[in-house]
Amino acid sequence: MSDEIEKFRKECDANIREMAADADYERVNQQWLEHSIAHKYSYNFNWMGRPIIQYPQDIVAMQELIWEVQPDFIIETGIAHGGSLIFYASMLELLGGERQILGIDIDIRAHNRAEIEKHPMSHRIQLMQGSSIDEALAARVAEQASQHKNVMVLLDSNHTHEHVLRELELYSPLVSSGNYLVVFDTIVDDLPDSLVGDRPWSNAANPKTAVNEFLKTNKDFSIDARIHDKLKITVASGGYLKRA
Ligand SMILES: C[S@@+](CC[C@H](N)C(=O)[O-])C[C@H]1O[C@@H](n2cnc3c(N)ncnc32)[C@H](O)[C@@H]1O
Repeated sequence: MSDEIEKFRKECDANIREMAADADYERVNQQWLEHSIAHKYSYNFNWMGRPIIQYPQDIVAMQELIWEVQPDFIIETGIAHGGSLIFYASMLELLGGERQILGIDIDIRAHNRAEIEKHPMSHRIQLMQGSSIDEALAARVAEQASQHKNVMVLLDSNHTHEHVLRELELYSPLVSSGNYLVVFDTIVDDLPDSLVGDRPWSNAANPKTAVNEFLKTNKDFSIDARIHDKLKITVASGGYLKRA
């Protein structure tokens, strides 16, 4: 790497460390996040015409990760309108080759399926309907993953502690060495329950508590803190897990 490139990288690392240590910034950031959740901010965006229920910062982080690790297979649980699936498929399209994404959802609505299936990225996408923690479904996913060399897993379905923990148990073995397992909506852990509303997850039991339990016994995964430290605005703080 040239000296200039290395110098710039070190400057960025120093900025990120400073941001992470800035308590005032963290407080303002938390306030902003809470307001944004109250206004359902994540529902405001589209990717190539389909609603993507993500914060733009996490979308940029995923672009960086996909470019960095160049997966040939991505598994995403939780499709909703299909925007995230199409986003990841469009990144695989840019990388080229035989790369595919498999999306799993317990309820793929007919209108969403129709839009995904007629989308220009559909040739990169496979849909599977069923619960992501169904053993038979997970076995079919594992069989497909075994045919690929560089697998990434993204969990964004039911956000209860038990569900995410079971997803982590079922899908973490499929993640390739050096690749990522991303658990979305760990943010619930940092929110007052009044903002979570009438959901079966809470401040006390949520995707982050599942990640913490998983990491106690799965030492080949670790939190890539640089990602949430630089994003600040993210729904996946502590959820970007890298496999050694
Ligand atoms: C937060 S949305 C997904 C958002 C999407 N990834 C995006 O970024 O646009 C959660 C989705 O998980 C699905 N879901 C809920 N329980 C599930 C389960 N047991 N298995 C698979 N999907 C589930 C819901 O039907 C819903 O579409």
